[in-house]
Amino acid sequence: MSGAPSFDLRGRIAVVTGGTGVLGGAMAHALAAAGARVAVLGRRADVAERVAGELTDAGGTAMALPADVLDADALDAAAATLAATWGPADVLVNAAGGNRADALVHGDATLFDLDPEAFRAVVDLNLTGTLLPTRAFARGMADGGRGSIVNVSSMAAQKPLTRVIGYAAAKAGVDNLTQWLATYAATTWGPGVRVNAIAPGFFLGEQNRALLTEADGSPTPRGRQILDHTPMGRFGAPDDLAGTLLWLASDASAFVTGVIVPVDGGYAAFGGV
Ligand SMILES: NC(=O)c1ccc[n+]([C@@H]2O[C@H](COP(=O)([O-])OP(=O)(O)OC[C@H]3O[C@@H](n4cnc5c(N)ncnc54)[C@H](OP(=O)(O)O)[C@@H]3O)[C@@H](O)[C@H]2O)c1
Repeated sequence: MSGAPSFDLRGRIAVVTGGTGVLGGAMAHALAAAGARVAVLGRRADVAERVAGELTDAGGTAMALPADVLDADALDAAAATLAATWGPADVLVNAAGGNRADALVHGDATLFDLDPEAFRAVVDLNLTGTLLPTRAFARGMADGGRGSIVNVSSMAAQKPLTRVIGYAAAKAGVDNLTQWLATYAATTWGPGVRVNAIAPGFFLGEQNRALLTEADGSPTPRGRQILDHTPMGRFGAPDDLAGTLLWLASDASAFVTGVIVPVDGGYAAFGGV
């Protein structure tokens, strides 16, 4: 044995896309608490500033790095700003993503009512919105032969959820992209560049709170259905992602690439009976 594994991220530079959101914000906090300098990326510059301020107030080092994950030029500019300020990214968390109400098929609507543009937009945000930041921020990893990319998948990826058509397809694409990139990175950039994903179970966020809980906090019928299929019997809390993220981002997972780790209270393991 050569000692305990290191989860230490001191000296590392991390970018969190979707750092202005619920789960990305929590992941940004976890990275900062582990010692990384954290760049908070999202379209809303004011929220990125606020989150970066919270990380700094908590004793970390952070900066806002506003950009749209679908705008390759803006991402290249953000990567250049990062490199000029701190240096190139060592860790990239691709947490920007989400679903849209008009990309669901539910209620009285049928597949024939689905707006193709809504489908396209959800696939674009979750899938292309993972690839483009990777292209922008992995350049330094490719040059230096070291880095960790952590994508954010979903329980909808491997077994699609009813209603959730475009998002499920997009996150299935994120799983496949994670494995493709893992193979490409290790064989092209070197074994020190790793690409993995976290597949969160059901976490209460702004996008799904009304879908999963009533105004009094009790579960909706769909929320109840989810809890009945979650052996641990609760929704995830954003901090539940921290341990898996720090493992994947740090040298503690040095021989791990191309995996998709469920953080789901047992949902993926349960057959429903
Ligand atoms: N909550 C859950 O139960 C759950 C479960 C599984 C997976 N996930 C995944 O976890 C990730 C975070 O979800 P969340 O629940 O934290 O949602 P959220 O609070 O709505 O956060 C979404 C984030 O994505 C960013 N974003 C959206 N479009 C963007 C764009 N074009 N360019 C840059 N950033 C963009 C938003 O930032 P701006 O608005 O500032 O651009 C925001 O920071 C998503 O990938 C989601 O699919 C969530």
